[in-house]
Amino acid sequence: MSKPTFYITTPIYYPSDNLHIGHAYCTVAADAMARFKRQTGYDVMFLTGTDEHGQKIEKKAADAGMSPKQYVDHIVDGVQRLWKLMNISHDDFIRTTEPRHEKAVQKIFQKLYDQGDIYKGEYEGWYCPPCESFWLDRQLKDGKCPDCGRPVQKAKEESYFFRLSKYAPRIIEHIKTHPDFIQPVSRANEMLQNFLLPGLEDLAVSRTSFSWGIPVPFDPKHVIYVWIDALTNYITGLGYDADGNSDPMFDKFWPADLHLIGKDIIRFHTIYWPIFLMSLDLPLPKKVFGHPWLLTAAGKSQEGIKMSKSRGNVIYADDLAKLFGVDAVRFFVIHEMPYENDGVISWELMVERYNSMLANILGNLVKRTISMSNKYFDGVVEDKGVTGPMDEDLKNTILQAVKTTSEKMDQLRVADALTAVFDIFRRSNKYIDETEPWVLAKDPAQADRLKTVMYNLTEALNIGASLLESFMPETAESILSELHAEKRALEDMDRWGLYKSGTKVTDAPATLFERKKEEEVMVEVEKIEAAQRAQYEAQQAKDAAASSEANAGDQAAETDAESDGMPEEILENGDCAPDTHIATPEAKPEITFEDFDKVELRIGKILHAEEVPKSKKLLKLSVQVGAETRTILSGIKKSYKPEDLVGKRVMIVANLAPRKIAGEESQGMIVAAEDDDGNIALMTPMAKMPSGCLIG
Ligand code: MSP
Repeated sequence: MSKPTFYITTPIYYPSDNLHIGHAYCTVAADAMARFKRQTGYDVMFLTGTDEHGQKIEKKAADAGMSPKQYVDHIVDGVQRLWKLMNISHDDFIRTTEPRHEKAVQKIFQKLYDQGDIYKGEYEGWYCPPCESFWLDRQLKDGKCPDCGRPVQKAKEESYFFRLSKYAPRIIEHIKTHPDFIQPVSRANEMLQNFLLPGLEDLAVSRTSFSWGIPVPFDPKHVIYVWIDALTNYITGLGYDADGNSDPMFDKFWPADLHLIGKDIIRFHTIYWPIFLMSLDLPLPKKVFGHPWLLTAAGKSQEGIKMSKSRGNVIYADDLAKLFGVDAVRFFVIHEMPYENDGVISWELMVERYNSMLANILGNLVKRTISMSNKYFDGVVEDKGVTGPMDEDLKNTILQAVKTTSEKMDQLRVADALTAVFDIFRRSNKYIDETEPWVLAKDPAQADRLKTVMYNLTEALNIGASLLESFMPETAESILSELHAEKRALEDMDRWGLYKSGTKVTDAPATLFERKKEEEVMVEVEKIEAAQRAQYEAQQAKDAAASSEANAGDQAAETDAESDGMPEEILENGDCAPDTHIATPEAKPEITFEDFDKVELRIGKILHAEEVPKSKKLLKLSVQVGAETRTILSGIKKSYKPEDLVGKRVMIVANLAPRKIAGEESQGMIVAAEDDDGNIALMTPMAKMPSGCLIG
């Protein structure tokens, strides 16, 4: 009889930059689910990949002096290496630049056009001539360009549109009648209330303003814009052909059982995607789960903030893996991510969990159990059937843990499932304390009882390790190989006593998780973060030199790692974006007075200010600092007109090494505050202090 199938996908990631631990979370969680389903007896198809087209990538590549393809090839290479390192067991990796995808997408677009669901229209918006950008009403800031703050004019761009509106009643009905379709279920209501019931507008699905995309087959000055290209990966990856010649893989695995995605893209997966599928007359995915986000925290705080390069708080899975090992990273991200609320990650929390859960609970248990078998019985583990009062409870707890793990995995509560697996190890440690093997060993009359105790512990480890395989595959394999045990299928995990009595375990158990000292880890983290900062600053300087639109490290011009590659639609509408965390003040590490004393802050008087040609953000200032006059470039244009600045006294960092910004040498930095809306205010003295006066 053929096995039941299970098709699971991750989002396809933007290769605009290297992927961070948040992206790794999603892929590791999907991997754990895929592995678990395989272990449960399913024929699994697990697809991941990269979403490689779009204006942002085109621009990034140009800034890096590469073709878009060269640029994405380089990043995608890193993504594939990362998944290999993390032991991701995907069955296929789809890139949207592959011919198999591009051809299939063109056919899909053609089909939708031929049947009248795509039509040509005009995309009306607000045009900012210097930025060459279109904006929608809701995107404008005070009626002006949200990028440069200049006036915008009404303009039209030719575009193809998809008739989302036609399908609105069907998708509303589907969501209402399939309470399991959107997970967590609270999100379903959000989709209905916020997007569907107020009415769906047709969706622009092509662009003429950039060229890095799949050409519209019958009108190649248009490229297919974002969602038809990206979402269809889930079917093109299975070999879907809109002309009716799909690969057998498609018939075997479609509809998907689960699209695992982050909460910021739920709308696209539960409204646009099902509608495209309805239009193609294909069945809808069974479930879409929008997981929360992983945020970073300072120290052991549980208050997370969004990761961003400019804050220097982006954590990468490979850096973590270098310090803790791959399985510890897999453990950590799964364990720390709740089902609905955001999870928090920091180096310090990682050390804490590593020591308490992995070194103490799991590593110690394995080593102690195997060492005792060696010490008392030359490594031979035998079930002598001499039971004791606590044996039943051990067995029941373990069998219950197997059941709970399975239930939690079915409910997509991966963290709870992992916690249930660890219940096995916790209970086994307690069993050692209760049975006191070292006491039994002193009494020859208790030899058979001791043998049974060692057997029970080994059997518990055999089941625990088999169950752990989905989450920590290397660790599971090490434990099983040290026990010379078979990995159990899920159906055999609730059958106590399958470990073969009389087996000899290894005589040299490894230390699976060497305890870590936080101070030592933090020394390494300091190096990693310093390297990241240096890289970020070098990149900023390079961008500034390459383009007069430089952001150049000025505090008013920070680039957000998340926003880097995101199409405007996500950022603008970011339905479930974790906006509440952004305002959380970021905590930098504590510094000594000596550290602070290195910074030379002085009063400067602005003598002259002018715009930097072509730059959206920068003003060029002549600032008198005591006897000298300095040129300083500052990203404050959004909030100040040059003429308003002349004569103002401001606070400057006087001993900052000069650096080139937008082709000009900037000799210092002006200190300013920036709020969450990007409004900037210069710091000025409350009295007319002389220029050059020291601040401190
Ligand atoms: N390319 C689109 C997805 C298209 S799917 C047809 C995209 N790419 S992305 O690279 O920006 O994001 C991919 C996924 O990573 C999203 O699901 C997003 O939620 C997730 N994450 C990005 N940052 C994250 C965290 N900090 N934590 C957890 N997941 C996060 O969107």
